[in-house]
Formats: sequence, C-alpha cells, structure tokens
Amino acid sequence: MTQDVVVSRHRCATAGLVDRLWDLQQRSGTQHISTDDMSQVACDLGVSLGFVRGVASFYSMLSDKPRGRHIIRVCQSPQCELAGGNGLAGWLKDELAIDLGETTPDGQFTLEGSSCLGACSDAPTVQVDDALYTRVTPAVLAGILAQARNKDWVSSQPNLPTILGDRHLLRSCGHLELEDAVANGVYQGLKRVLKDLSPEDVLATVKDARLRGRGGAGFPTARKWEFTRNAVGEPKYLICNADEGEPGTFKDRVLLEGCPHLVIEGMILAGYAIGASKGFIYIRGEYAESIARIQRALDEARRANYLGEEILGSSYSFDIEVYRGAGAYVCGEETSLIESMEGKRGVPRLRPPYPASFGLFGKPTVINNVETLANVPVIVREGSTAYLSLGVESSPGTKLYPLSGAVVNTGVAEAQMGITLRELIYDIGGGIADGKSFLAALVGGAAGMFLGEDMLDVPLDYDGLASRGAVLGSGAILVLDEDCQVAPLISDILRFFRHESCGQCVPCRVGTARLVEMMDVLRASGKESDLDLMLQTALTMKQTSLCPLGQSPYTMLKSAVKYFQDQLLTDKNQAEGR
Ligand SMILES: Cc1cc2nc3c(=O)[nH]c(=O)nc-3n(C[C@H](O)[C@H](O)[C@H](O)COP(=O)(O)O)c2cc1C
Ligand code: SF4
Repeated sequence: MTQDVVVSRHRCATAGLVDRLWDLQQRSGTQHISTDDMSQVACDLGVSLGFVRGVASFYSMLSDKPRGRHIIRVCQSPQCELAGGNGLAGWLKDELAIDLGETTPDGQFTLEGSSCLGACSDAPTVQVDDALYTRVTPAVLAGILAQARNKDWVSSQPNLPTILGDRHLLRSCGHLELEDAVANGVYQGLKRVLKDLSPEDVLATVKDARLRGRGGAGFPTARKWEFTRNAVGEPKYLICNADEGEPGTFKDRVLLEGCPHLVIEGMILAGYAIGASKGFIYIRGEYAESIARIQRALDEARRANYLGEEILGSSYSFDIEVYRGAGAYVCGEETSLIESMEGKRGVPRLRPPYPASFGLFGKPTVINNVETLANVPVIVREGSTAYLSLGVESSPGTKLYPLSGAVVNTGVAEAQMGITLRELIYDIGGGIADGKSFLAALVGGAAGMFLGEDMLDVPLDYDGLASRGAVLGSGAILVLDEDCQVAPLISDILRFFRHESCGQCVPCRVGTARLVEMMDVLRASGKESDLDLMLQTALTMKQTSLCPLGQSPYTMLKSAVKYFQDQLLTDKNQAEGR
C-alpha cells in the first residue's frame, strides 16, 4: 500500500472514535459502553472522559446504560405512523410490559424508537438487532419475539424495495456478484478511463453531462470536483454520503444493497477526477445490510484489482474505507458527517471554509451523495450526449424517486428528471390505492413540502420545482389520500425535527421543541392565532438557524397551511389519540 492509501486514521487523534465505540458496545454483551471502557478510550486518545461521553451520548444507537440482549427499534417516521406503526409500538409495549427506552426485567429486550428505518414503501417497519422487518403485523412480531426467546437470534428477511419504472441507472440492480455486475456494464467505464482518459477528461465528461448532486441541493457535480481538484493541500479525499436518514427516503439503500459495485465504480472515477487516492463511505448505522453488502463488494473489487494499488495495471491507486454512523439524521449534513468521521459529536460546522478546501482532517474533500456517484459510471460508459438525451435541459439523466404512502405500487421509481407528479403517481404508481382520491404529496421528506392538486403537472426536477417555490430535495414522495388526517402527520414530522436537532443553536434547539408543543395547543384549540404563532416561530427559525435542519419546518408548515388550513383548524373535532 502506498503512503496515501493508508493515511486516514492518524491524521486526527479521535478519527474513528464512533467505530471504536460501536466495537466496545457490541463486545460488551450488554449493548452499552461502560464508564471503564470510555475511560480507557479517553486515555488512549489523550482526550477527557467528558469528550468521549459527549460523543457516545450524541448518537441514538449508542448507549452508556446496559440494555437487553435484543434491541427492538420501531420506526416512528411519518410514513410508518400512517401505516400503523404507532399501533405496533403499543402492541410491543403491552406484550413486553415496558415503555420505549426500557428493558424487560429478564434482560431479553430493549424497546426503542427510530426516526426512520429507510423502508417506507413497505411500512410499517421494525428492526430487531440488525434484521429489518417490513409490513410488520403483531402476528409477525409475536413470531420474532418467540424466535429470539427460544434461539437467542433472529433471522432476517430479504426486503429490498420494489423497483418501478426505468432500468437505466438501476440496470445492474440485483447483480450483486462481481461477475454479474461486470456483465451488466459495471467497471466498463473505469477500464476505458484507466486505459485512455485523463482525470481532466473524466471531469469534462461529467461537466458536459451537467450532472447535478442528488443529495438534495442539486449542486453541479463537476463544479464541486473542480473546487477540490484545484484547492491547495494534499491529500485530497472523497466521501460518499450514505447517511440517508430523511424520512421517506430509501433510494440510496437500493443502490448500496442492489448495485454496490456501481457505487464503488462511481467512487473510483470521482477519486480519479479530483486527484484522490483515498475514499470513504459513511453509511448510516441502521443500514446493517448495506454495510455488509458494500464490505463484501469492496473485498471482491480489491481481489480483482479494481481497488488498491495500481488499479488494472495503471498508475492510479485508490482504496475505500467504510465508516458506520450511529443514529443521527443531522450527520447527513456534510460538515456534521465530517465531524462524525473525525470522532466528534456530529454537529454542523460554520461555513466557510467549505469542505472543498477544508474538509476531512482539514484537507480538500469532495462529498457526494450515493446516487450522484452511481450516475458517474453511467455517464462515462455511455457518454455525455446519451446522458443529455434523458431528463430536462437543466437536470439531465434519470432520478430515483422513493414512492410511498397511498399509491397502488410503492417502491423506488426510476424515471427521467422532470417527470410530473401526476405521471409518477398514476402511470408508475398505479394511482391512489383503494379507489380513493388524491389529497396531496409530501415531496422531499420531512424537510420538503406538501404539493396539492395544482402541482400535479409540475416537472419534478430542481429548477421546475424551484420556479414554483418548491424543492425536490431527496426526491422522496409520500402520497396522501382523501382520508389522511393531516394534523397528526404534521405532529409526527415536528417530533422528528425535535428529536434530530443537534442542539447547537438556540433557534432550532428551542424552536423545534416549541413547535411540537404549539401543534398540540393548536390541535386542542383550533384557533387561527395559534397557527399564526407557529408560522411566525418557524419563520424566525428559518431566518436564524445555522443549518437547513432548523430552517426546514417553515417550508413544510407554510405548504401545510396552503392546502390544509381548514383541516388544521378543525382537527380538535376529529383527531383523538395520536
Ligand atoms: C440535515 C441534513 C441532512 C442531510 N442528509 C443527507 C443525506 O442523508 N445524504 C446526502 O447525500 N445528503 C444529505 N444532505 C446534504 C449534504 O449536506 C450534501 O449537500 C450532499 O451530500 C452533497 O452531495 P451531492 O452534491 O452529491 O448532492 C443533508 C443535508 C442536511 C442539512
Ligand atoms: S439548525 Fe438545528 S441541527 Fe442545525 S446546527 Fe442548529 S441546532 Fe443543529
């Protein structure tokens, strides 16, 4: 291995601390990190015990208190709540005679909530240890509990979301073995590049294709690469952001688990273009299966010399290291993600400086979303002209739209950028389920906004939506039918923000908590003045919060008022319970 390939961990004393805490927790037998273990880590790293405890307590999947042999996580995302997740949690509480956050007296089970388990098309979902269960019913849960009690392990079930629509980006999806992936076009672009093309050629091809980042903001990928390529400082790093935690979003999971080699090829090509020989993939802690499949694919790729020293006989060397998140939505924000990789609490940094010039370990760093990187091999293999023939002029190519809620067909829909909501719901999604009519769609997840009937024919691409004051975000689409109770749904979304606020800045820390309380007040009072106060609070948060998390509730609430003001003001007459 060259010097550059092994540079990672020692660049920052605490780098990889989250991984180390994971290891300690898993080896403890009691699913927790003891004070003794934390003290030892603090001593090894030359930091205080308070620092280590501060990191451990930031992540919801880590614990400093002993827990049960099996951890049951019930998904509390808006999607799962709509599909009956609340009822499942209630059933589990009764069955185990414990509340969320508690452990059964025999030490068998700990019951926890999760903000989103990333399987929204097959809601409701529950995770037991690392095994994910979808479309769960109390009967299924009873079977899982019995198995855990009798055999002390739980079996997993295959549960990749259904693939709908085109198979362009997803052509190799499901071809997990290296040979199969190669037969379906993977690594062809890389072979050609290493034989004939310079890093500048790759950058120019991606620029010509006008690829835009799929992580939410739609930033031009080649421009981002250029910043880092031209930045002063060595080495340069590439990070693949696989922290997909936006409720309603499960597209990156399909890529990680369905086409891991495509993601790896995209990372190698991006690394080549920016002059990096080291890449990292930060995968959210809940995605245990994604981590396993990516690790397996990395091993295969190394054996075949698609990764490692002098790839395929060229002079280019590149390797990839996996980091596991530990349950913090805000770590999807690129600077929090870097903090987390550096072994700290995952709180967003003030910018500038931007990661392009001062990123991981203070070095120039590109951070791209999984789907963005998966597009790169397709562009390189087929050429920018072919890519430009898909999608719309300002956003070419296809997009993965995670489709959930009240449609006949749920799953990840691949479609050309600019498809309309109507086409997505009625042509690909098969229309509204159970013969009901469309009420609205929540587009872009919790950080997105509601779109009603008047927006059904708006193209779902970055600029098409922006020109109407809307956002595409992750592309998640949660479809609501005429019977949807909107007020409880909004309460769920606000609780999500409260839970996931990192607490660094006051407007968001206090504001997200106040909004939950205000929503309760509104649902009891039905007064317009209470609704106004909520909007004013959310607007202040938008204007003063440090990162998009604290800025997001306003957009969602404003769109809710546009479409559902009457329902929000009359909720006290109809919504009891949730
Ligand atoms: C609260 C928050 C969560 C985010 N979560 C993700 C995520 O899970 N995955 C992702 O790629 N980008 C996420 N982003 C956006 C990233 O900060 C960043 O813009 C993105 O990874 C850039 O990749 P791209 O240029 O390929 O789109 C999030 C941003 C915020 C503010
Ligand atoms: S806006 Fe919220 S999540 Fe973002 S930095 Fe401030 S407290 Fe943290």
